[in-house]
Amino acid sequence: MRTEQAPKTIYLKEYQAPDFAIEAFHLHFDLHEHNTQVTATAQYSRTNNTQNDLVLNGELLKLISVSVNGQLLEASQYTVDEETLSISNLPAQFELTIVTQIDPKNNKALEGLYQSSGNFCTQCEAQGFRKITYYLDRPDVMTVFTTRLEADQAKYPVLLSNGNLVEQGELGNGRHFAVWHDPFRKPSYLFALVAGNLQHVKDSFTTSSGRNVDLYIYTEAHNIDKCGHAMASLKRAMKWDEERFGLEYDLDIYMIVAVDDFNMGAMENKGLNVFNSKLVFASPETATDVDYLDIEAVIGHEYFHNWTGNRVTCRDWFQLSLKEGLTVFRDQEFTADLHSRPVKRIEDVRGLRTFQFTEDASPMAHPIRPASYMEINNFYTMTVYEKGAEVVRMYLTLLGREGFRKGMDLYFKRHDGQAVTTEDFLAAMADANDVDLSQFQRWYDQAGTPVIEASMDYDPKAKTCTLTFKQSCPPTPETEHKQPYLIPLEIGLLDSQGRDLPLQLVGEDKAVGTTRVLRFTEAEQSFTFVNIAEKPLPSLLRNFSAPVKLSYPYSGEELAFLMQHDSDAFNRWDAGQRLAMQTFKELLEAKHHGLPFGLEHYMVHAFQTLLIDPALDDAFKAEALALPSETDIAEAVRPSDPQAIHEVREFVLTHLAKALRLDLEQVYSERNTLTSYEIDSQSVGRRSLKNIALSYLGRIQDEGIVALVDEQYRHANNMTDTLAALSVLNHIEGEERELAIEDFYARWKQNNLVLDKWFALQATSSLPDTLKRVEALLNHEKFDIRNPNKVRALIGAFAMRNPLHFHAFDGTGYEFLTRRVLELNTFNPQIASRMVRPLMNWRHYEPVRSGLMRAQLERIQNTPNLSSDVSEIVTKSLV
Ligand code: TRP
Ligand code: ZN
Repeated sequence: MRTEQAPKTIYLKEYQAPDFAIEAFHLHFDLHEHNTQVTATAQYSRTNNTQNDLVLNGELLKLISVSVNGQLLEASQYTVDEETLSISNLPAQFELTIVTQIDPKNNKALEGLYQSSGNFCTQCEAQGFRKITYYLDRPDVMTVFTTRLEADQAKYPVLLSNGNLVEQGELGNGRHFAVWHDPFRKPSYLFALVAGNLQHVKDSFTTSSGRNVDLYIYTEAHNIDKCGHAMASLKRAMKWDEERFGLEYDLDIYMIVAVDDFNMGAMENKGLNVFNSKLVFASPETATDVDYLDIEAVIGHEYFHNWTGNRVTCRDWFQLSLKEGLTVFRDQEFTADLHSRPVKRIEDVRGLRTFQFTEDASPMAHPIRPASYMEINNFYTMTVYEKGAEVVRMYLTLLGREGFRKGMDLYFKRHDGQAVTTEDFLAAMADANDVDLSQFQRWYDQAGTPVIEASMDYDPKAKTCTLTFKQSCPPTPETEHKQPYLIPLEIGLLDSQGRDLPLQLVGEDKAVGTTRVLRFTEAEQSFTFVNIAEKPLPSLLRNFSAPVKLSYPYSGEELAFLMQHDSDAFNRWDAGQRLAMQTFKELLEAKHHGLPFGLEHYMVHAFQTLLIDPALDDAFKAEALALPSETDIAEAVRPSDPQAIHEVREFVLTHLAKALRLDLEQVYSERNTLTSYEIDSQSVGRRSLKNIALSYLGRIQDEGIVALVDEQYRHANNMTDTLAALSVLNHIEGEERELAIEDFYARWKQNNLVLDKWFALQATSSLPDTLKRVEALLNHEKFDIRNPNKVRALIGAFAMRNPLHFHAFDGTGYEFLTRRVLELNTFNPQIASRMVRPLMNWRHYEPVRSGLMRAQLERIQNTPNLSSDVSEIVTKSLV
């Protein structure tokens, strides 16, 4: 946390290579809860002929001593301020030893060295290492680490750090030690240590070249039986990366440690991943299907970083998407290869639209490679991660699978062991395929979601069909006028039977396939297809081939037709989303003019056809039935009124539920057979469809339905079904709801991760007393505002997943959030700054709410001792 003065802006264009390199680094930790002593010895050498001072980063450190080549320096020979230690008159090469003291137990920001459940752990990305010792805490300074840990043997029997264990022993006086050596050069952000009373599960993996790797998951004893899924996921990830990308693991040991207090999901420290325990532990009774899939994906994600992040790392933090966008893309592909590719694509795009598009339309909009930042922790965003992954995916779409792989191979060949930039990645892709991708660079430099307007012209005489596209991109803080992007546009044309037509562009001598990727590079561009016998219906942006908003003047009937016939599964799903969105917009108009609500017959019919189609799989149907969220509608219809949006959306869902009741009941009962819990894709799909059917039926709210839901709650043999039933009851006022909420608590009060679901559930209820309950739950004995998972479960869920009550017309939701943000700001700025973001898009709401939101932002801005994290968001929101 920084002090009162406004945080300063850091610019990419001011990047300078470091003046010093570090040859080798020895760290010695004498671990104590309140007073850990860190002795850091590094071999420095100058990289240039300047006589510049050595300026080391360091925060919240108590400096004990500084020595150069074994000579203790006097206080006059160096300068220390809040953020740096500077030493002048240094020779070309020297050994620097620094002794500092830190207080892990009082570190509630969970950055640097801290304690979680009484164990020591670290979080160094992005700039946490400087809270451990004075160092060149930047990713382009890489060196070989040797780490010695000393601690109380009874309290901390397990001592871990990166690399290989080279020595361990007892010290007498009840203390012991371990020495770890990591042979791979790495930046400080990948350093980690763990010391605690931990048990482990052990397994092993044989790499494709025949090396054995020992695999460990460390946790407190009571969770040891919930690590099987994480371990199996790790082995799948290791195998997949060998098969798909030819990438093998490089150390003889891979360790994962689960901790309860963690600001994010997980961290890829070399050879020693630290995980939020919610992304490790799973059993059918405690974890949902979504949890199981998330665990597999994040275990994969952190493992994949070993090559995309660790072996090849970032030159500076502006390049964050170089490792994060690429690694998200890799984990998406991992999930797609193991499960259903279309369903994975649909879920990723749903998340991108709901959260990243919203961010791109906010005052915090930034390119995937930002040009400036105030607080780097604020740039671990949906844009850098998810849009970054979309940008990587576009190379694949443009170059094909083989071309993409050639680019990856060249990237590793050129840059293994280096700290590089996104330009280096683009160059590897272009050079490996001998293509010019210079225009593609704009995806890295321009923020905002491009908008494409598409139109079609059919000439029945010439039998030609011309598709015309116009692209534009709204202004964002960094660029007013955007240059056109290179957009891969995957398209098809359907005939009146719904069949794909062969596609032959003017000038080609024959048709090439039925789905094609057009290279759309101009502000406006047309593509003419020949030999088109009848007027076709276009299927545009298949598989969501670019992260854009595409509009085409489809009629409702045309969308219903695409829902039934498009050969592209993604567009089949998207047609339903478009149809629903059109319906919501029409109803909002009707409400605005005081007209009665109604639903077009083709809309009901389209969803019925889909529901009973025997050719479609359950998981896909479940996705199709999940209509755009209230947040999606709010972003599409501005200025928005969340109360009206809720009403309109509920009207549609209730109407569909009543109209399709018999089909929904049948779909439900066919799948509600009590079988043992399996986590294969088909079983997951079956539960998804069953449970979304139940949520529709829940809107009917008659006695029979409530009994059905209650029945599922009481008899479920897995958390997916339990929670699905409870989530339906959660919106139905009455005794059943109260009893179920009490019952769930009684059953799970000893399991913190399950209780997070219980907190989140109550925070997302549509019932009128929700905010009061949330306020009361803040004082619940199981709630702890210092634990980020609890904050996300109660406060985050209310502000981000309950627009109806968060946007209460009287402003009580905003005021509630503001008070929590100000409290969090005093001890955990990273979490505070995540929680303040729901206020960011205040300009998108109708005037009353908009004013109330702005007032809360101003109140935060005027609070003293604001962290740089919160200050950046609030300041930019009010510009
Ligand atoms: N690199 C981590 C990832 O793969 C992100 C991360 C974990 C992180 N913990 C953090 C980022 C703390 C900033 C602060 O997603
Ligand atoms: Zn990552």
